[in-house]
Amino acid sequence: MIENLEKEALAEVMLAADLAALEVVRVKYVGRGDGLINSLTRVIKEQPADKRAEFGARVNQAKLNVEAAITAKAATFGKVEQAKTLAASAVDVTLPGREPARGSLHPLTLVTDEIIDVFARMGFGVETGPEVESDFYNFEALNFPDDHPARDMQDTFFAADPADGKPARVAHPNNPDKWVPALLRTHTSPVQIRTMLRKKKPPVRIIVPGAVYRNDSDQTHSPMFHQVEGLMVEDGISFADLKGVLAEFARAMFGAKAGIRLRPSFFPFVEPGAEVDVSCFLCTEQSRSGCRVCKGSGWLEILGAGMVHPEVFRHCGFDPERTQGFAFGLGVERVAMLRYRVPDIRLFFENDLRFLRQFA
Ligand code: PHE
Repeated sequence: MIENLEKEALAEVMLAADLAALEVVRVKYVGRGDGLINSLTRVIKEQPADKRAEFGARVNQAKLNVEAAITAKAATFGKVEQAKTLAASAVDVTLPGREPARGSLHPLTLVTDEIIDVFARMGFGVETGPEVESDFYNFEALNFPDDHPARDMQDTFFAADPADGKPARVAHPNNPDKWVPALLRTHTSPVQIRTMLRKKKPPVRIIVPGAVYRNDSDQTHSPMFHQVEGLMVEDGISFADLKGVLAEFARAMFGAKAGIRLRPSFFPFVEPGAEVDVSCFLCTEQSRSGCRVCKGSGWLEILGAGMVHPEVFRHCGFDPERTQGFAFGLGVERVAMLRYRVPDIRLFFENDLRFLRQFA
């Protein structure tokens, strides 16, 4: 009878499919108290005196055998479970690591940095100014007449007061009773004024990179674009210095053979003023006969420049009789479009990775 019970128990242990089934078998046979084998210990003393010891020993042995079988079987389940969890969370340390996506500099940042580098080598320091600007710095101090069309809605974005939506105004720096429009700067030239007012006297040798805004949008114009302003005010600075600095810039930016050409032009804050063209780098490489990039002219228009107007010096407290200097302003998008042959200015601002990755 004990032998049969033990055999049955061992068979059921073998057939148990998982830990839960095995537990059922354990309770049934060797469970404390009611287990079929365990309960036999209670009938030991009912056995004839000469059989008691042997009976007891066999019950005990059966119990130990079944328990050992259960432990062994449980261990095999353990291994399977362990193998399963391992497989689920497997880390293969021999795989190459996953590289995080790496960003790259925007083409306009690349070009701006390059422009800054060129002028830094010529001793220019970098200045910046606010993009929401006072009419005084953007126009008045730069000698724009009151009725100049650039002050018009056509070009300039004026700031609105968030409280009532009416045009925002700021106090005139020289006359606290006078209020002038707040606007998005239309060029980086107001930083000329801010810098000269702060330095109070020459020398000034700065470049000013930054965003500017004009109400204009097509293939070559964006309502937000970038300029680099330059200003050099020092004893004895002449128009020849302006030409020399810009010629050096053209060579550094577009190659040793690049040259510049100046055409008379008007900006209220310079006299004389000029539009400056750089020789077309595509044509100079080939024949100088003209191509699509320069529209057949052999020249690329990239900046405005001139000698600082005496009226500008006067606004900044520099003696207009004794002070001379030059200023220039160049369009960063224009340089970048030429340099990288980008056909549409809007590509710079659409954040399309297929475009941006080409500059990584
Ligand atoms: N501020 C002028 C513009 O935006 C460029 C310029 C700068 C011209 C300095 C002359 C001198 O068009």
